[in-house]
Amino acid sequence: MKTIVVYYSNKGSNRYLAEKISKSLSCEIEEIKPRLNIFLLFLMNIHLGIRSMKHDVKEYDKVILCGPIWMGKLIPPLRSFINKYFRQINKLIFVTCCGSTYAKKDEKFGHGLVFKEVENILKDKCIFYQAFPIGLVLPDDKREDTDAFMKTHLNDENFKGEILERFEDFIQQLNKVSILNI
Ligand SMILES: Cc1cc2nc3c(=O)[nH]c(=O)nc-3n(C[C@H](O)[C@H](O)[C@H](O)COP(=O)(O)O)c2cc1C
Repeated sequence: MKTIVVYYSNKGSNRYLAEKISKSLSCEIEEIKPRLNIFLLFLMNIHLGIRSMKHDVKEYDKVILCGPIWMGKLIPPLRSFINKYFRQINKLIFVTCCGSTYAKKDEKFGHGLVFKEVENILKDKCIFYQAFPIGLVLPDDKREDTDAFMKTHLNDENFKGEILERFEDFIQQLNKVSILNI
C-alpha cells in the first residue's frame, strides 16, 4: 500500500505531526504550498489556490491530509488540495492538530464540523479522521484556555503523555486500515 502525507501548517504543529506520521509509516511527505501564503488574506477568504504537487497523487492508495482548523472551517489550502486533486485521490485520511477539544468537537469551532465538511466533499473516499487537540500537551486546567493553546506548538519536548499515546493508537489504526485494504 502506497501512502503519502500531505500537509499545510502555519505555526508548525501540523508540520510536526505530519513529519511524525510520515516517519512512523516510512512514507513520503509533501507540503501544500499556497500561491499566496499570507495568513490574513486566508482569513478574509482571499486565496489564489495552491502550487502543483511534485508527487503524483494518483499513484498513492492513501493520502493522509494534515492541517489546522481556523474558525471552524476547512482551511483554504486544504480545500484547494482536495478540489484540485479530487479525481487523483483514491482514499483520504484527514488529520488535524487543532484547538478544539474532543468534548467540544461538534460545537461552532469544533473539528467535528470540519470532518463533516471533508466527508461531504469526498464522500466514501474519506475513510478515517483523527484530531490531536493541542490542549493534550497542556495541564488539565489549561486545555480549554484559548490563550494558552494558541501559544502552544508541538515539539519534541511536549509530544509525550496522552498525545503520544493517542498518536501511537492512531498509527496502529492506520496499519489496521492498510491490512484490511480499505
Ligand atoms: C485564526 C485562528 C483561528 C482558529 N480557529 C480554530 C477553530 O475554529 N477550531 C479549532 O479547533 N482550532 C482553531 N485554531 C487553532 C489552530 O487550529 C491550532 O492552533 C493549530 O494547531 C495550528 O496549527 P499550525 O501550528 O500547524 O499552524 C485557530 C487558530 C487560529 C490562528
